[in-house]
Amino acid sequence: MKYAKFLCLTLLLIFAAALSGCGNTEEKVKTVAVCFPNTTSSWQRNGDSLKKLLEEDNFKVDIQFSATVEEQQSQVKDAIAKNPDCIVIGAIDSAAFVDVLQDAQKKNIPVIGFDRILLDTDAISYYASFDNGAIGDGMGEYIEAALNLKGGGGPYNIEFFAGGPSDKNAHIFLTNTMKILEPYLRNGQLVCRSGQTTFEQVAVADWNSANARPRIQELLNKYYSDATLNVVLSPNDDIAGVILEEFERAGKPYPVISGLDGDPAAFERIREGKQTFTIAKDPDVLTAKCVRMIKAVVEGTQPDINDVTNYDNGVKIVPAYLCTPMIIDRTNVNSLAAK
Ligand code: BGC
Repeated sequence: MKYAKFLCLTLLLIFAAALSGCGNTEEKVKTVAVCFPNTTSSWQRNGDSLKKLLEEDNFKVDIQFSATVEEQQSQVKDAIAKNPDCIVIGAIDSAAFVDVLQDAQKKNIPVIGFDRILLDTDAISYYASFDNGAIGDGMGEYIEAALNLKGGGGPYNIEFFAGGPSDKNAHIFLTNTMKILEPYLRNGQLVCRSGQTTFEQVAVADWNSANARPRIQELLNKYYSDATLNVVLSPNDDIAGVILEEFERAGKPYPVISGLDGDPAAFERIREGKQTFTIAKDPDVLTAKCVRMIKAVVEGTQPDINDVTNYDNGVKIVPAYLCTPMIIDRTNVNSLAAK
C-alpha cells in the first residue's frame, strides 16, 4: 500500500513536471499581430511576404486585412486583447488609432507602423517604410527629365492626382513632387488646364482607383476635347491603370504617366508602352527590415534605424527605417521580376 502511494505520487510529479515543461515551450513562441488594409493588391503582397518571413523565424502570425477604418480599429482592438508580443499596423487612416492604441501602451505592447505612419499617438515605437520623400522627388524628377523641362521643354499640358487624404504618405508624395514641378507651372512650361493643383482638388478618396475614374473622364471631356493631355501625375499603379483605361476609351494618345508600387500589371503596361514608369517598393525589402525591427523590439534591443528626424507624428519624432525605392521604366523593366 505504502509502495502504491509512493508510485502514484511519483507519477503525479512527473506529470506535473511534463505539463509545466509544455508551458515553457509554448511561452517561447512569440506572436505578432499584423493589421493591414485590403485596399490595393500591394498590401496583400506585403502581408504574404511579412507572414512568410516571420514564420520562417518561428513567430506565430495573426494577420488581418480590413476594408474600412472602423473594421481596422476593431481588428486592432481584438489584436491588443490577445496580448501579442508586437503589433504591426498599415493604417487605413493614419490618425485613427489614438484611442485604440492606448491599451497597447498600457500593456507595453510595442507597435510598429508599416509603410504608413500612425499620427498623434506616442504608442507607436518605430516606423518601417520606404523613403516617402524620395518617392515624391523621384516622380517629379522623372517627369522633369522626360520632358526636358530643365532644358526649356514645353509647353506641356499636365493634370495631377494624389492618394487618399487620410494617409500621410499621399501628402508627402504630392508636396515633394510639386516642389519640383511648380516652377514650370509658374513659367508656363507646364500648363494645368483644369487649374486643379491643390491636394484637396486632386486627392483620390481612400486611394480607391474607382474614385479616380469619374475625375479623369471629366478632365478629358471638359478640358482636353480639343487639346492633348501630355502628362498625368498618378500617385500609384492602381490609379494609373484606371487613368490609362480612360485614355484608351477616349481614343487619346497615352500620356507620360507615373505610378508607384511596382505592381505586376504596371510592369506589363510599361512593357506595352502604356505606362511610362513606376516607383517599385519591393515587398521583400521592406518586410525583411520590418522583421529585423520586430525581433529587436521583442527581444528588448535597439532596432536598426536610419531616420530620426523626418517623421514627426504630431506627438513625437518616430524613429524609422526607410528603404530605398527603385524607378522602373522601359529601360530596366525586363531585368526585374515583378513581385
Ligand atoms: C502606399 C502606396 C500604396 C497606397 C495605396 C500608400 O500609403 O505608400 O505604396 O499604393 O498607400 O495602398
